[in-house]
Amino acid sequence: QTTEKSEIYEIHDWATKYFNYLLTEVDQGSEAYNYLRQREIKRKTIDKFKLGYAPDSWESLFKFLKKKGYSAQRIHQAGLIIPRKKGKGYYDRFRNRVIFTIFNSRGRVIGFGGRVLDDSHPKYLNSPETMIFNKKRNLYGFNLAKKEIRNSESAIIVEGYTDVITGYQAGIHNMVASLGTSLTKEQAKLLSRYAERAYIAYDGDAAGEQATLRGLNILKKEGIEVYVVDLPSGADPDEVIRERGQEYFNSLLKEAMSLIEFKIEQILLDDGSIRVEDKVKKVDQIIPILAEIDNEIEQTEYVKKVANKIDTEIKAIKARLKKYLYQKD
Ligand code: CTP
Ligand code: MN
Ligand code: MN
Ligand code: MN
Ligand code: MN
Repeated sequence: QTTEKSEIYEIHDWATKYFNYLLTEVDQGSEAYNYLRQREIKRKTIDKFKLGYAPDSWESLFKFLKKKGYSAQRIHQAGLIIPRKKGKGYYDRFRNRVIFTIFNSRGRVIGFGGRVLDDSHPKYLNSPETMIFNKKRNLYGFNLAKKEIRNSESAIIVEGYTDVITGYQAGIHNMVASLGTSLTKEQAKLLSRYAERAYIAYDGDAAGEQATLRGLNILKKEGIEVYVVDLPSGADPDEVIRERGQEYFNSLLKEAMSLIEFKIEQILLDDGSIRVEDKVKKVDQIIPILAEIDNEIEQTEYVKKVANKIDTEIKAIKARLKKYLYQKD
């Protein structure tokens, strides 16, 4: 390993200590600490995830790291300072933000995410890509979750930092975040080495729903059996677990939809029309999905479900399916 790279790791270790110290030991961090406590994050969890606070100052981390012996160039390579547009010098990337420390799968710090303490924008700022931080290959929380993912052969994929943290605190230890709504092929590959099944539990909003569809296909390509957790509209796992309890979240996991169910649901849900023409259209969209199911018993079960949902005869759908398969051959 190059000295460059090992120094960048060291810089991250120091920055983690610095942010965490400010959050937990000093008056400067008390607003951030109270913010986390308000979100019901316990002290033990703050330590486990090495959460921190970046002060409201232009160069306090920069100065701290220089004192530890690192060059401005190296600190810049680590992604923690930004060159000033006018004139010389740098300023701290993270200022007045709660810090979420990002680890690689071996538990080394490779980056940070910083959240504002209010409703201002951007809500989150993250470390840029660096020699040690490759965003598309990383899953937040994987270092803590990989053991349980292997044991249970299943992973729960959520969007955000706080979803993973609240989940962990509630005893759900196989949860990871894609950090945003776009799961990558590389993240799916990493998961496939540990998990047979994945539950996508993205936020119950339009962005989450879109991302679920993309995520499903990416995971399936890597040979993972996928299920979709249907969260209450407008809610994310953090909110669901805190407001309705872990038992309720577990029941949502139990009721998670398979890929086929989810696809059928997408077609049936868009409106509640009972016009005959609409029913026919919807069935025609669903038939190709049903046709892909190899197992006859499984196929029959889905036929029953669909018939039930759109209030028609099982026989009618079966006939339609037969015709479709016949025409395809
Ligand atoms: N994210 C980001 N930059 C943004 C918004 C979101 O990097 N401007 C990432 C963060 O990792 C965030 C995740 O996408 O955790 C999900 O976004 P969102 O659902 O908006 O945030 P929450 O995790 O729910 O955060 P909070 O509960 O603090 O509002
Ligand atoms: Mn979201
Ligand atoms: Mn829904
Ligand atoms: Mn949230
Ligand atoms: Mn969210």
